[in-house]
Amino acid sequence: MDKLTITKPDDWHVHLRDGELLGDALRHTARQFARAVVMPNLSPPVTTVAAAKAYAQRIMQACKLLEPSEIGHFEPLMTLYLTDNTPPDEIEKAKAAGIVGVKLYPAGATTNSAAGVTNIALCDATLAKMAQIGVPLLVHGEVTSAQIDLFDREAVFIEEILHPLRLRHPKLRVVFEHITTEQAVEYVMNADTQQLGKIAATITAHHLLYNRNAIFQGGIRPHYYCLPVLKREHHRQALLKAATGDSERFFLGTDSAPHVTRSKEQACGCAGCFTAAQALELYAKAFDSVGKLQQLEAFASFRGPDFYGLARNTEQVVLEKKPQEVPHQYAFGAEYITPLNAGQTLEWTFLG
Ligand code: DOR
Ligand code: ZN
Repeated sequence: MDKLTITKPDDWHVHLRDGELLGDALRHTARQFARAVVMPNLSPPVTTVAAAKAYAQRIMQACKLLEPSEIGHFEPLMTLYLTDNTPPDEIEKAKAAGIVGVKLYPAGATTNSAAGVTNIALCDATLAKMAQIGVPLLVHGEVTSAQIDLFDREAVFIEEILHPLRLRHPKLRVVFEHITTEQAVEYVMNADTQQLGKIAATITAHHLLYNRNAIFQGGIRPHYYCLPVLKREHHRQALLKAATGDSERFFLGTDSAPHVTRSKEQACGCAGCFTAAQALELYAKAFDSVGKLQQLEAFASFRGPDFYGLARNTEQVVLEKKPQEVPHQYAFGAEYITPLNAGQTLEWTFLG
């Protein structure tokens, strides 16, 4: 197969940033995706419906400044950042405003998570409201305790936080974001959705393509550092099997997270991989590696809207098996961002 035509996909987890970075982050995402679930971990975070609406307007403004030939019609799907103090009332307003989900960042887990949740029990009334009126919880699934090894934080989160949370709120729908372990795959695959709310998971291209060796290949490679961090090969294999398999519970979320090159390449570099510019090419490489390209459309274009109860897109896009070299840098305003795979050749090219 040297051409692949699929329904235009959506990105169910992306960081579009704000200010000077927003226009360029958007340019890359809107070129390949019709819609994207936009993460609220700005500084300050998007904790209110008013802030989410204002952010959506800035995104639409930035959209207008892009060349129409460069991007298609693009719709941002907005989220709210959960704090210890998010009132249940705000959830009612969020539902009415079309906000698609509320994001749980355990405080200290990742970029701009300082205002996140310190103790999930503090959010019970708000979570009850979400379960009652059907607003999904989007989860950064890692515990933050210094006692727990970084590589075990997702597996411990399932036992200590996620499963008890689903038992306490049996109607709550959950998206386990950017899963990285076989424990997460097994949990989502086998989760009871008869007695408990529906659960799904997003999977990034980088977690499908790389294991943790990539971070240390001949030296330290900051552009492969993200959170949750890349894991061992058997975890990657489990993710690849889930993404390319038949379960409707796994779908595309790039977690493309641009940080300017100088803040990745320093003594304490930021977490995040920038993949939006070649997102579909990277997913195609992963699916092709196990002979499952025919499953890419379901993963990228069908299961996400089905979970969120939105219509599937109707346009189509084409990928061609034609080599492309990934640029060393992309200009983002006056700054530069280094993409994952910078300087390498990818086999597939997105034609639009
Ligand atoms: O690697 C990451 N980068 N993981 C996250 O959870 C946040 C993201 C970011 O915003 O940079
Ligand atoms: Zn993210």
